Amino acid sequence: MGKVDAGWRYNERTRLPRRANVLRSELELGLAVKKTHIKTELPGPKARELLARDALVDSPSYPRDYPFVMSHGKGAEVWDVDGNRFLDFAAGIAVCSTGHSHPAVVQAIKDAADRFIHISSDYWHEGQVRLAERMNELSPLGVPAMSFFAQSGTESVEAALKLARYVTGRGRFIGFLGGFHGRTMGSLAFTSSKYTQQKGFFPAMPGVTHAPYPNNYRPLFAGADQGQAVLRYIEEVLFVHNVPAGEVAAILVEPIQGEGGYLVPPDGFLSGLRELCDRHGILLIFDEVQSGIGRTGKMFAAQHWGVAPDIMTLAKGLGSGMPIGMMVAKRSIMQKWARGAHGNTYGGNPLCCAAALATLDLVERQYCANAAKVGDYFMKKLRVLAQKYSVVGEIRGKGLMIGMELVTDQASRTPAKKLCDALITRAFHHRLILLSCGQSTVRFMPPLLIGEADVDEAVGLLEGALKEAMAGEHLAVRGAAAG
Ligand SMILES: Cc1ncc(COP(=O)(O)O)c(C=O)c1O
Repeated sequence: MGKVDAGWRYNERTRLPRRANVLRSELELGLAVKKTHIKTELPGPKARELLARDALVDSPSYPRDYPFVMSHGKGAEVWDVDGNRFLDFAAGIAVCSTGHSHPAVVQAIKDAADRFIHISSDYWHEGQVRLAERMNELSPLGVPAMSFFAQSGTESVEAALKLARYVTGRGRFIGFLGGFHGRTMGSLAFTSSKYTQQKGFFPAMPGVTHAPYPNNYRPLFAGADQGQAVLRYIEEVLFVHNVPAGEVAAILVEPIQGEGGYLVPPDGFLSGLRELCDRHGILLIFDEVQSGIGRTGKMFAAQHWGVAPDIMTLAKGLGSGMPIGMMVAKRSIMQKWARGAHGNTYGGNPLCCAAALATLDLVERQYCANAAKVGDYFMKKLRVLAQKYSVVGEIRGKGLMIGMELVTDQASRTPAKKLCDALITRAFHHRLILLSCGQSTVRFMPPLLIGEADVDEAVGLLEGALKEAMAGEHLAVRGAAAG
């Protein structure tokens, strides 16, 4: 059995949501309209109407898992158009770092909009310069930095790739299996977390070779330290056999792998990459689009290991929901770009810069430390679940970037993909918004302002959803405690 309520999906012929199936599965499970904050069946009548309109006019390529139709949000709470209230532990894919509509961010956007909405990156304005100064002060690279402004993660990555080729005069790159860096042709060449993101688009940008991302839970190489093994693979296999180090412009890596499964690399891996890059004149690019801006309890995830890249990409949490990306590079590198070498129309949009400045204030003052503290509490609570249910294979992460990998059982570690899908949809019916990553990992990326009470509520809802998903997968008795 697949997703419990896969019936909400579109009818292939009419392109309208299949309501009859939804109602049937709801009623069979006795779930309809009985939870405190759920006022209608899900999706409710207004949501259904919108889904029907959407099916006719919006691209079907969006990878939507369940029918949440947003009305409004505040902090870590969101409401759908039918008045149902949910706890949001996905934050718009790790974007709403300061929660939904934080008053300070909203005010900053309003103030900026009152002044002007756009002037283009051909001119100057205070917000853009201030944000670049601010980034330089945060010292993500350990040396003076310059910034290029974009609207998204993928555009920041494209800028990083172009800069790396431009300044090194080299054409090739190394990326990592399971990595996610975006969906435009350059970043897509690195993205390899799910084949569906690639299918039908070959060839993307040429010149990218993938190495495995080190994973001590699922080791590919012999030896206890998969990080060192991967470094040896790059040096002794790739560099020797088909990717000469002298042709490599840069290595692009997520300091904590996001879409690929919320994988935390072993200690020594990032510093090993740094050392390897330095030895071969290769630039090191850290993609902190998902892990940056306080998400992991440090401003930048790589700071957990004290390693600084040459170039860093940022987006998501930076603008609290406003579309902004930044490619930050050592000044000594970025200043090599000639006038006109790279640019865009919307870079440094004043509303986005204002939102980012307000976000950085909040994250620096409170939310980064909060993510570290509440994240520790959250991980402890999830580890209790891992002791209770044999389908919880591993809890991993830093701060509020946490993954819970589901397996058919802890001994075999076989990824429990169907269970994971079922859990995500059951969680929605328990009014908890979640997303998955990797093959069978639930990812938790709530707004950075949540407190322990929110974690308690979320873990309670999660456990209820897990039990139902296990029952649906006939996994309830496998040595797992009932309670
Ligand atoms: C690490 C990383 N890089 C890049 C991207 C692409 O960002 P965007 O979807 O804004 O283009 C993502 C998106 O999930 C990401 O997680």
